[in-house]
Amino acid sequence: MDTFTYRYPVAVYFGEKAAEKNLPAELAKVGENVLLAYGGGSIKRNGVYEELMGLLTAAGKTVTEFSGIMSNPTYAKVQEGARLARENHIDFILAVGGGSVIDCCKVVSAQAKTDEDLWELETVKHGGPAGLIPMGAVVTAFGTGAEMNNGAVITNEEKKVKGPLWGAFYDFAILDPAYTMTMPMGQVISGAFDALSHCMETYMGSPRGTNLSDEINEACQRNIIRNLRATLRDPQDIAARSELVWAAAMGENGILKIGKVTDFQAHMLEHQLGAYTDCNHGRGLAVIHPVLYCHMLPEAAPQFARLAVNVWDVDPAGKTENELADAFIKMLAAFIEEIGLPTTFAQMGIPADTDFQAVADSTVLTGGCCKRFTREELLTVLHECQ
Ligand code: NZQ
Ligand code: ZN
Repeated sequence: MDTFTYRYPVAVYFGEKAAEKNLPAELAKVGENVLLAYGGGSIKRNGVYEELMGLLTAAGKTVTEFSGIMSNPTYAKVQEGARLARENHIDFILAVGGGSVIDCCKVVSAQAKTDEDLWELETVKHGGPAGLIPMGAVVTAFGTGAEMNNGAVITNEEKKVKGPLWGAFYDFAILDPAYTMTMPMGQVISGAFDALSHCMETYMGSPRGTNLSDEINEACQRNIIRNLRATLRDPQDIAARSELVWAAAMGENGILKIGKVTDFQAHMLEHQLGAYTDCNHGRGLAVIHPVLYCHMLPEAAPQFARLAVNVWDVDPAGKTENELADAFIKMLAAFIEEIGLPTTFAQMGIPADTDFQAVADSTVLTGGCCKRFTREELLTVLHECQ
C-alpha cells in the first residue's frame, strides 16, 4: 500500500429526519444571509422545500433562492449563482438536490469570492480559489457522492468541455434516504450504476494487488448490486434505499481511495460525451463500461478475475484467469441489461452523427490504471458503443 494522509472535513448526518434533527444547530453557526440552491422544482413537489424553508425561517435567516440548476450544470449557471451570492452578501449556501446542484454550488462558493474567471484561474493558471463561502448539502438524489468531495463537474458550453473545477468541501451533508424516495426510477437506476462505476474506477487504479481499500470496495459493489435489485423488486423498500444512499457516499468519501491512484477513464470519456450531447451521466457510463473493459481485458485480467469471484460470485473452479476476467465483463453487461439501462448510444438517443472524433480528442487520458488508452482506441470504443 502507498503512503497516505487521510483527513475528512464533511460532517455526515444520516437517517430519518436528519434535517429536522441537525439543521438548526448547523444554521446557528453561520451568518444571516443564506442562498438556498435547488434544481428544476422536484423539492417543491415532494415537500422538501417547505420543510427546509420552515427550518431556515425558524433560524431567523434571510433566504435568497437560486433555482433552476440543470442536470450537467453549466459554467454560465455558476456565474448566475455567484452574481446572486455577491449581490445578496451571502454568508452560507444550502444546496438541495443531486450531484448537479451540489456541484454547481461548490464553484459558486469560490466564484463569488473573486472577480477572476475561475475556469481560467484553475485550468490555465493552475491557481486555487481565493476564498470560499461555507456550505451545507441536503441530498435528494443519491449516486454521484458529490456531497462528499470538493470536485465539481461543470459543463463549459463555449469550450465544449465537461470537466472538474475545485471549490469548497461541504461543512455537512444531510443524507435522509426518505428524501430520495420520490426520485424517478430511471434516476435511481442511473444513480446506483454511477455509484457502482465509482467503485470500479477506483478498484481499477493502482496498486493492483490485494489491499484493504479494494476489499472494502468489493463489499460496496456487492451492496450496490444487491440493494438495487431489492429496490427494483420493491421501490418503496426504505432499508434497501438507505444502503444505496450510503454506498454511493462511500464511493466518494475517500475511504476506497486510501493508498490508491484511481483510474476513472470511463468517467473522463463519458464527461466529454456529455459535453457534446448533454446525456445522462449514469446511462452514458452503462454503455461505455463493458466496451471499455473489453479493450482493457489483456492488461486488467487479474483485477477483473478477482471481481468475478469476489463481487459477482463466479465459481473459480477449473477456470483460468482470463476466463474469469471474461466472465466478469459478461456479468456486468448482463446486469446492465437486467436493470434496464441502455447498452448502446442509439438507445440513449445519441445521434449517429455526433462528433465522436472531437469527443475522443478532448477526453482526458488517465494514468492510474493498468492500461493507458490512446485517443485512437477511445474513438474505437465510442464507435463500438453506437
Ligand atoms: O432538478 P430537479 O427538479 O430537482 O430534478 C432532478 C433532476 O431532474 C431529479 N431529482 C433529484 N432529486 C429528486 C429528483 N426528482 C424527484 N425527487 C427527488 N428527490 O433528478 C434529476 C437528476 O438530478 P442530477 O442532480 O442532475 O443527477 P445526479 O445526482 O446524477 O448528478 C449528475 C451530475 O453530477 C456529476 C455528473 O457529471 C452530472 O453533472 N457528477 C459529479 C461527481 C462529483 N462531484 O463527485 C461525480 C460523478 O461522477 C458525476 O460526474
Ligand atoms: Zn460518476
